[in-house]
Amino acid sequence: MQYGHFDDKNREYVITDWETPLPWINYLGSDDFFTLLSNTAGGYAFYKDARLRRITRYRYNNLPLDQDGFHIYIKDNKTVWNPGCRPCGTKLDSYECRHGMGYSIFKGEKNGISVSQKMFVPAEDNVLLYHVSIKNNSDTTRKLQLFSFVEFCLWDANDDSTNFQRNYSTGEVEVHGSAIYHKTEYRERRNHYSIFWCNRKADGFDTDMDIFNGPYGSASEPDAVLEGKCRNSIAHGWRPCGAHQLDISLKAGEEYTVVFGLGYIENPDDDKWEALDAVNRTRAEQMMARYSTDAEVSAAFNELRTLWNNLLGNFSIKSQDPRLDRMVNIWNQYQCMVTFNMSRSASYFESGMGRGMGFRDSCQDLLGFVHMIPGRARARILDIAATQFPDGSSYHQYQPLTKRGNLAVGSGFNDDPLWLIAGTDAYIRETGDYSILDEMVPFDNNPDLSQPLMEHLRRSFNYTVTHLGPHRLPLIGRADWNDCLNLNCFSAQPGESFQTTGPSEGPVAESIFIAGMFVKYGKAYERICRISGNNVEADECARHIAEMEEAVLKDGWDGQWFLRAYDAFSKPVGTHLNEEAQIFIEPQGMCVMAGIGKETGEAEKAMRSVHERLETKYGVVLNNPPFRRYHLELGEISSYPPGVKENAGIFCHNNPWITMAETVLGHADEAWDLYQKICPAFIEDISDIHRTEPYVYSQMIAGKDSPRFGEAKNSWLTGTAAWTFLSISQGILGIVPDYDGLQVKPCLPSHMDGFSATRLFRGTSYSITVKRAKKGEQTGLWVDGVRQEGFIIPAEGKKEASVTVIIG
Ligand code: BGC
Ligand code: NOJ
Repeated sequence: MQYGHFDDKNREYVITDWETPLPWINYLGSDDFFTLLSNTAGGYAFYKDARLRRITRYRYNNLPLDQDGFHIYIKDNKTVWNPGCRPCGTKLDSYECRHGMGYSIFKGEKNGISVSQKMFVPAEDNVLLYHVSIKNNSDTTRKLQLFSFVEFCLWDANDDSTNFQRNYSTGEVEVHGSAIYHKTEYRERRNHYSIFWCNRKADGFDTDMDIFNGPYGSASEPDAVLEGKCRNSIAHGWRPCGAHQLDISLKAGEEYTVVFGLGYIENPDDDKWEALDAVNRTRAEQMMARYSTDAEVSAAFNELRTLWNNLLGNFSIKSQDPRLDRMVNIWNQYQCMVTFNMSRSASYFESGMGRGMGFRDSCQDLLGFVHMIPGRARARILDIAATQFPDGSSYHQYQPLTKRGNLAVGSGFNDDPLWLIAGTDAYIRETGDYSILDEMVPFDNNPDLSQPLMEHLRRSFNYTVTHLGPHRLPLIGRADWNDCLNLNCFSAQPGESFQTTGPSEGPVAESIFIAGMFVKYGKAYERICRISGNNVEADECARHIAEMEEAVLKDGWDGQWFLRAYDAFSKPVGTHLNEEAQIFIEPQGMCVMAGIGKETGEAEKAMRSVHERLETKYGVVLNNPPFRRYHLELGEISSYPPGVKENAGIFCHNNPWITMAETVLGHADEAWDLYQKICPAFIEDISDIHRTEPYVYSQMIAGKDSPRFGEAKNSWLTGTAAWTFLSISQGILGIVPDYDGLQVKPCLPSHMDGFSATRLFRGTSYSITVKRAKKGEQTGLWVDGVRQEGFIIPAEGKKEASVTVIIG
């Protein structure tokens, strides 16, 4: 069952039934100011950091769900409704929500009145705009009222939802004309406030929620709206809000427009005040002036559309399958941008308070984003590297606002350092910019400990070399990529964090997954050393890598698949000798991607075992059989019910590793088969089972051992975005940025005869056509008619070039 459809021409998903199984959201904003927005205008806004600079309040796990947001109310006599249908829930004559690239539009119609509420965050500005138009389609004059409403968060979202004894006394606002200034804590340690304004003269306003809603009022029936009258309340403590009242009279056929803006303003510390108790409003007034007319707002909207046209123009394809094209050209890349911006901080499943930017997450997000704005990827790599410790280990997370490592979680996730190599490698391949290696970057955020980025990579590589266990395999530490395989944790107390309990280092437990990573990304580091002219170090790396491959094939192989780990007692994890979790997906994907056992047959066997043991109709589960008992020595993984999350769920992030691994072995049909199993656009028609948005990937789909097989959770913020983009663009379509040029060597499934693509690479726009060889025709790659060695387009600095690739 579907709740809407794709509109590829406009790059939108159009929701036509608002009662989606879960709120289906969009992300507005691409620089510093962000808004999460659901299909009924629920959501929240923040500046840079969803925890430390939360602008509006949002209650997760609320009843009813998704109540807080950016709703507008239309009062038409006794009928009150919202163009996004909620919170009133009044039945509309028509409803549509269009989620597009950085904007959403709600269109509702009731009793001859149609309303369009277009919401977006303009490029490079810290404001959420609502462009609202109301049209009277009836043949009589109509008197209506429009009410806006936002609930302010008192900045630190964590404190805001816990410290009520203080917070109920701190709220402060100012009102000037139609502009409401939310200035809680501005008098003391903050230099920022927010404004909520409209570009028309308001007929009333409220800033005190208890007055606007009534003490026991609800978002669906605010007192002021029901009575048709705001009280011009000025909040003192309690719960400050912003609401406007506009009285409107529309003749038959007449249209009315209004702009609302929710902005974030920062003032210099020495220029905060206009007078005692009066904030300096200059910057706010400048912001309001930028969007004072319909024409200005439309121009800002068009700029945003141009921005996205350009961003998505860097890579696009045309195949026979519109589902594939819309994922590659639009939604997968869009999600890559969102994960790059948010890491795992703010979604409808991540409260924005728990985790900031993840070290490994952000390094992986880069992989799917670097071709869009390489400059931002570069800056991000340097930020991430600055949270590395001098010994090569790293903080697991950092706050986006302060860019400082998060002490509460600390370090000890032994895959982290290698992801820094992965991110940097991808950046250099994309750009050819080796100067990044010379950038001076602090260790532990301490400028006194600065070293060139190359030194950071060296320490990343050496961290594994110097942290090997009894089988000469990498020590796992707190966990590797699988945060829930906690081999040194031994937690028996409810409430303890599986990620931070127990020693951060254990001298015994080892990870075959990290071993695979070390081989894969170690080779990248070796290559960087060689290109930098450091052959001695490169040779040394090659020796370590060869030893690791040997160790994996000797002690990391179970006979039909790669083992997962050795626990703290050196007992194998992921072996046919165990009753539960005999096989895990991660080492099969990573070791085969690294090429381990490719020549000697283990890689082929591992892939076969994945099909036989782990693959289902909805994707590949993480492990099998699932855990049914809690294993103290394995940790969180065995805490989840069977078939869910890391315990035998279809953890989408590592499905594309299998897709990529299949392409490494030349298994084109198998690669494709798995790609489309988890691809949202391919499973749109089971939205009622899948439940999350059909335009983006989710972290997890319940596996075959769960009674809710096929149900997805944790949409949007997942490494799946970057990795599926890699698996389709690089693995299957074969367009791979390489050090010396762009490689185009597809591994196309048998049903595909070819495709065409446009790829901007190091300043050249390539028009690529891929075809199958006709009988007797030679295979190869031609640039502007000239046959090239192998399948690499040498980077030549032309503006445009046409590439033909003939494959077998
Ligand atoms: C989740 C993991 C996550 C970890 C750290 C666990 O509860 O299952 O997916 O990586 O928490 O936040
Ligand atoms: C989600 C986390 O963000 C990511 O870092 C981790 O690799 C996966 N869960 C698997 O546990």
